Amino acid sequence: MEIYRKTFAEINLDHLAHNIRVLQNAFPNAPFMCPMIKANAYGHGDIQLAKCLEKLGIQHLGVCLIEEGLSLREAGVKAEVLVFGGFDREGASKIMQFQLTPVVSSWEQLDHLEAAATTSVPMHLKFDTGMGRLGFSPSEAQKLFDRLWQNKKIRLKALLTHLYQADDAQAEDGSTSAQLRQLHQVSLLFKPFQIFCHALNSAGALNLMCCEREKNIKENHPLLLQNWGLRPGLMIYGYSPLDASARQICDLKPVMTLKSVASNFRFMKIGESVSYGGTWTAKRESVIAVVPIGYADGYHRILSNQSFALFNGFRVPVVGNVCMDYLMLDITDAVKGSDLGLLKNQEVTLFGFDSQGGFLSAEELAKKNSHSITWEILTSVGERVPRIYTGSGA
Ligand SMILES: Cc1ncc(COP(=O)(O)O)c(C=O)c1O
Repeated sequence: MEIYRKTFAEINLDHLAHNIRVLQNAFPNAPFMCPMIKANAYGHGDIQLAKCLEKLGIQHLGVCLIEEGLSLREAGVKAEVLVFGGFDREGASKIMQFQLTPVVSSWEQLDHLEAAATTSVPMHLKFDTGMGRLGFSPSEAQKLFDRLWQNKKIRLKALLTHLYQADDAQAEDGSTSAQLRQLHQVSLLFKPFQIFCHALNSAGALNLMCCEREKNIKENHPLLLQNWGLRPGLMIYGYSPLDASARQICDLKPVMTLKSVASNFRFMKIGESVSYGGTWTAKRESVIAVVPIGYADGYHRILSNQSFALFNGFRVPVVGNVCMDYLMLDITDAVKGSDLGLLKNQEVTLFGFDSQGGFLSAEELAKKNSHSITWEILTSVGERVPRIYTGSGA
């Protein structure tokens, strides 16, 4: 791809491989390991990541939309692709045509699948154990069993639920434990199908890793009720959803670095302002760098006058309102004694790793500055930001 604007997201496939290995080493016997690559692999590029994950031995991939599944198939991805979002009759036909695996959350979806089925369709069955979003009530388990047992058109492969607050998974009386107990209970009824269950997202998986490392988990803890399958998202991209203490459990490596350059400089006198609305005014003679990335690229406007970037080995503040295509940095301290001519078009790191060994976390942008979440920061990186892949992913 030709790039005329030096703004891009660097995606480090070696870091992805490292994070996957962390999981594979921690859960060598997991019945199911399904990295979630919905939403363009959390902004990292789903086709490239899917191909890398396949090489790493991953056999299942999770998407939300049928469209996402189709584009993976069209790109030649062979792994089993689970579609977690809803579908109608037409969607059911597409799912079959492209050999995607539907996650069924409603009676209507079951009807569509049966109506469209020409052969026995494999599917996973979702139960709502507290998320309040998608899935059958556990109280419908018997009725579902009756519908699916010896059903020639639909082949049940697994049961699942989605954890809504898996940070608390270590607590035996927490919401996650309650959710896992409910799914386990349902799975006892479905025993004749000889299937497995999946439930652990990043927080669930990391909490289980914590417990096992610290050997402080009782045999009958819900995390150990059965060999739960995993659907990790955030952690494969190198971030932990847990707080700092629990995070030490494994060293994840952030996969995405968002970069641009200092494309030109402005010299401000005391009292002069920067950007729309003049929300930042120079209190000293200041050097401002103009950086060609803005909210249309996913750098949220709410970060105006709130966040930092890395430049010339310094953390420098974003000043003035973030524009659609640009943002401005106060680089006064970072350029003291430097030849500005040499710093023109020098790298600016919005988050991730700079080339001088510095790191700025997407989580920090999310938490401290915009009350967002790391998931949102990553998935916001816009379509017009090219992704550049580094590393072999081996
Ligand atoms: C159904 C489902 N499973 C797993 C995940 C992965 O969650 P996380 O990114 O927290 O690991 C998601 C993410 O939203 C999801 O919707």
